[in-house]
This record gives sequence, structure tokens and C-alpha cells, in this order.
Amino acid sequence: MESEPSPCRPQDLGKFEVTQRDGAARLGKFFTKHGVLNTPALLPVVNPNILTVEPRSLWDEFGFRALITNSYVIWKNENLRDRATEEGIHKLLDFPGVIMTDSGTFQSYVYGDVEVSVEEIVRFQASIGVDIGTMLDVFGRPDMTRKEIEDAVRITAERATKSLQVADTNIMLNGPIQGGLHQDLRAKSAKMMAESEYQQSNFSIHPIGGIVPLMESQRYHDLSEIILSSSSELPPNRPMHIFGCGHPMLFPMCIALGADLFDSAAYALFAKDGRLLSEEGTYRIESMVEWPTQSSHISPYTPAQVRAMSKPERTSLLARHNLEVTQRELARCREAVRNGSIWVMAERRSHSSPHLREAFLGIIRERTDPNEPSAKRMRSIIRSTDPIRPSSEPLSEDLLHRPHIIHANSLLVQRWRSPGSWHDGSFGAPSRVVVMKGGEPPWRASYGSTVQRVLKEDPRTVVMIDSLIGLVPYSLEDLSPWCRVEGSNIHPVDTKEADYSVDLESMGLGGIPVLVLTPEDSEYEQDKSILAWIDRCSFVDKLSVLCAVSPAIGCEITDEIQVRRSNTNRPVNVYNGEMHLFSPRLNDGGISLALHGAKLIHEAMKSAKDTGEDSNDVQPRGDHPGLPSVTIHSDAIPFVGAGRNVMHGFILKADPWLIVGQPCLVVDEDDNLVAHGVSNSTSEEMAVMKKGVAVKVREGALDKDALNLTAIDS
Ligand code: GUN
Repeated sequence: MESEPSPCRPQDLGKFEVTQRDGAARLGKFFTKHGVLNTPALLPVVNPNILTVEPRSLWDEFGFRALITNSYVIWKNENLRDRATEEGIHKLLDFPGVIMTDSGTFQSYVYGDVEVSVEEIVRFQASIGVDIGTMLDVFGRPDMTRKEIEDAVRITAERATKSLQVADTNIMLNGPIQGGLHQDLRAKSAKMMAESEYQQSNFSIHPIGGIVPLMESQRYHDLSEIILSSSSELPPNRPMHIFGCGHPMLFPMCIALGADLFDSAAYALFAKDGRLLSEEGTYRIESMVEWPTQSSHISPYTPAQVRAMSKPERTSLLARHNLEVTQRELARCREAVRNGSIWVMAERRSHSSPHLREAFLGIIRERTDPNEPSAKRMRSIIRSTDPIRPSSEPLSEDLLHRPHIIHANSLLVQRWRSPGSWHDGSFGAPSRVVVMKGGEPPWRASYGSTVQRVLKEDPRTVVMIDSLIGLVPYSLEDLSPWCRVEGSNIHPVDTKEADYSVDLESMGLGGIPVLVLTPEDSEYEQDKSILAWIDRCSFVDKLSVLCAVSPAIGCEITDEIQVRRSNTNRPVNVYNGEMHLFSPRLNDGGISLALHGAKLIHEAMKSAKDTGEDSNDVQPRGDHPGLPSVTIHSDAIPFVGAGRNVMHGFILKADPWLIVGQPCLVVDEDDNLVAHGVSNSTSEEMAVMKKGVAVKVREGALDKDALNLTAIDS
């Protein structure tokens, strides 16, 4: 038996905090009077007239912390209406958690009309103590004409302000997005609903509506485009709900695209029809001999025994199985968000059904019109994805289309530059490119001696590695994702002469002679000065590619470095005299700044600005705009300066090239350094989020002893 939930603090009511994220996918907390709802979550649909599974069991046995029921169904039934009005909805249903209600829109879609007014249904939901109600939106069916859908979008938006007015502060409201299959109308609807307000109160959650008919005919490609186009205009500080989507098979894709909440009656409807849900599809138990899916509910029985049960007993059992499977798949998805594998999970699940595969391929490949809202949103998902991660990259046909890999490759192409000076002290353009292929990571082991030989032979050689995700400079040989592709060693060496010209051209190496080499067995005597030069190139290149620090500044701060190495000869700490500048991250090849390194970069950027090299403040410094910074409110400075995290709500502005998971500076309004850390959010998120950690601070830059810290309430 689970304990009853505690109400959130009044100042947190309706806020949404993102605690973990991978691209658009996120783990969040939504604050209500009936507890904090952890997302992604599914709200089982409870029909108050037919309780297939008692709401109390949903809470106690299955761990659902929220459910959805229909306020119109309750309003229409005199007995239910009286009881709900007297006792409140939580007592009526005997459910202690979060209760969301729908408004009758779905009934109007099924039956043509409803008898309740826009104001009345919101007032009723508030009067029975619902946590999150829904306004009466106009359901846009996919078979409607464009004109009819335009009307549905317009009328829904017109009703929004009225509904918010009635809701006042008594109830949180869903602001549904309509627009049928028209991407522009979806985006328009999302924008209008997001902007709707009455006396500064807005919708708390945005459900995407009008998709049930698409679910019924498995039009998942349309679903994915609707999610992308709607979310292109939704604010990141409000949860996105998918109305009527509850098949576990769809969770990974929807969550990877940013869905936070789902609701569905599928568990009960499918059970009534003798069907089992699984993460890979649906099974009829009709002629089943063995279970193709498992749960604690069905495992004590054979399919024949379940078929022999009375209908109510069978329905209850199958519904319980369906709920268990639903919760299990959501837990897997949340875990995948935590460990950065949600996209790969969606990729794998896409093979469960041809309709889902079509949807997935649509998302990753068919961005035919770059101006469509879905394409725009997909680009923002890519930009918001941490490009490097410690986990391995499973090899698959979709490998190159993973958002973090697209992001990593585009940063490489945009920001990497060939060295400005060579290990023999000479300057000038490279004289040749040597492409290494056929060796397994770690490439410093398989290619190291050949690389030293070719550099000795001709110091002005740029060494590239032919990886399964494209060419990567040898200076980034330990950087994920390039060095992390699982299965690199089973990838046969392509004996055909590969054409590297396009890749080399994109990295500024077009027209330079290319030599392709495979690893040599012979041990080459280590040359300390070449190794030191490779190390320095590696630091300059990582600062450039991951932190947007110009190679000129990178060279300046690494001019006189000393490197401390591990037992396996990998650089672990980089110093300038006594000053610790940074440490390479051994798990993913990234860079961890130290305070002195952050200060040096910050000062170098400032003096580059002062000398007029970077005069344009709006879009400064082209491909290397500098280590991104987050400007914080003066109230937060003492705390952040002492090393506390930067919380949302205390941010004045943030550089738009900030990359989630990568280093950033924290500064005050006069651009004085307050701290440095790793960003948790994009600049767009920092502009609107009000709760949670925005920058995980590594070190404060202010003198802790001089600071007088009093308690701060985040
Ligand atoms: N339930 C399923 N689809 C919808 C929708 O579009 N609007 C509302 N209010 N409820 C729904």
C-alpha cells in the first residue's frame, strides 16, 4: 500500500521541472496539489461507469500517480454529478493522486455534439476538485476539409481565454492543440494556445488532440509529423501530452520527440476484446497456445485457461496485464533517457511494425521541405542533443541519422580547422592528408606508430581516421561518438578506393593530395616532441569543436602546457605552471575545464573583443563565437560564485550556441566571471524555465570566504 501524496508547495503549483534530458526527451516533475507527477507518465482512462480496474488498485498495485476521467460523463449522470459535487472527484473515484479530466470534446467527436457550454464544463471541473481540467476544444478530424480544420483551430483558440478566465486560480487547465494533418495549422494552433492567457494565467499542459482516428488506423507517420509540428511552437516549460495515445509500442518514439504525458483507454478496450498489449505490438489470445509476452498477471495461467474464464474475469486479468506492460515500458523509456539511449531504443522499436518503421524513417530521412515546422523542430532537437556521450554506439543502418551524431558531425565540419603550425615549428598549409583505415579503436593504439612515422616523414601532414561515421581528425581519436561505434571491429575493410573528396572538402582540405594507409605492425620509436604536438592539437581541437573557442585562443592558452599522464599514457591533467587548466574526459573524450582554464579563456575572449576582432555582439565571431556564457541575476551571484548550481529563474540571458552537456561560463551583467560549469539546458529553455538546474556548476570563481551566504530558496 503506497502512502498518500503530499501537496506541492503553493509557489510550485503548475510548474514543470526537467531533471534529466536527452535531446527532446526529458524526465520531469509536474507539481500539483495531489503530489509531484514524474514524467514521462501515462494516465489510464477511467470510465466512472465501468471500472475495469479500480482506481485504488491503479495507485496501490500498479503505481500510477495520475489518471484521467471524463468530466462530461460525470456531469451528464445525475447521480455521479451530485456525488462528485458533494464529495469531490478524489473521493468519488477513491484515488489519492493527480486527477485530470477531459471536457466532452471527444464525445462531441463521437456523437456530433455536447450539451454543455464552454464555461460550464470548466466551472464544473473546478467545482469537483479536479487537478488538471480540459477546456472544450473542437476536435479536428483528419477527414475534414482544410477550412473546417482552420475553424476548429480558430474556435478552440477563441474559447481558450474564456476557459482560462473561468478556471482562474482554482484549477489548472489543458490547452489542446488541433490542426488535423496540416503542419502549418498545428504550429499556428500551438502558438495561439501557448500564448493564450487571462490575467497572467496560462494553460499548464498542452495536449495534442485530434489524433485518435490516426491511432486507430496506425497512421504513425502522420502522428510523428503532428508531434513535431505542434511542438515547434510549444514552450519547453510546459508538459506536452498526447491525447489518446497509449500503446506501449509508441512510447519510445513519442518520448524521443518530446512527449511527457500520455493517456489511454487501450488497456481496458483491448482487454475487453481479448487482446494483449506488448512493447512490440498487440496479440489476440483467441488461438494462442503460449504467451508471446509476459506479466505477473498472465504467467500463472495458460492462454486456454484464460479463454475459459468468465468474460469479466478475463477482461480484468488482461487489463491488468496491459497495465503492467505499460508501466514496464515507460520505466524502460525513462531509464533510456537517463542513460542517453532513448533514440536508439526508438530506432530498435521502429522495427516492430511497418507503420512504425515508416514513421521513424520519415523522422530521420524525409526532411524534404526544410521550411516545414516538423523539419524546423527536428533541427532544434538535433541542436539540443549533447553530441558526445560515454556509452557505445550500436551499429545499425540508422546510425548516421541519430541526432547526437548529426550534431557531432556538423560541429566538426563547422568548427574544426587544420593546424596553424606543425611539430617542426613550421607554418603554412598542409601538404598532404593521410587517411587511416582498417584499425580498431582505441586508435592511438592501432594507428599511433604509423601516425608518428608519417608525421616525421612530412610534418605538414593532416592525419584523418576513416570511422564508421565519417572522417575524423586523428587529434580527436578518443572522442565519442566517432571512436565508440560498437562493431567497428567486425566492419570489413573496404578494399575499394573510397572517395573522401566530399568529406575533405567540407573540412577545408579539398584539393590536397591524399594517401590512404592501413595500420602497420611495426613499433615506431616514440618521439616526444611529436607526441606533445599531437596532444596540443587535441586540446585545441576539442576546445574548438566542443566549446566554440577559436583555434587562435586555444593555441594561446596551450602555449606552455605541462601534461600529467595516466599509467596508460593518456593525458589526465593539463597545467600551465601550477595552474590546472583542464582535464580530458577519459570516458567520452570531451574536455572538463578547471577554474584557471575557464579564467584564461574568458580573459582571452574579452581581450579579443576589446581589440575589435569581435565587434559584432549579435552574431559574433563566426564559427567560433567563444565559450558560451550564461548571465545570471545579481541575487544568485553569491551562491553561484561559491559553487552552487545555476537555477532556472535566475538567468538574464544565455548565448544561443550553448550546447547541452558541454562547458560554459557563468557571468554577471558586466561580464565578470562568476563560475564555470556544464549546461543542462539550451538557451531557449533558459529563457522560459522557472524550476530546476540550468547549469551544473563545477567551480565558483568568487572568493568563498568573502561571501556571506544566507539561505536561498530555489
Ligand atoms: N481525447 C482524445 N482526443 C481529444 C481531443 O482532441 N480533445 C480532447 N479534449 N480530448 C481528446
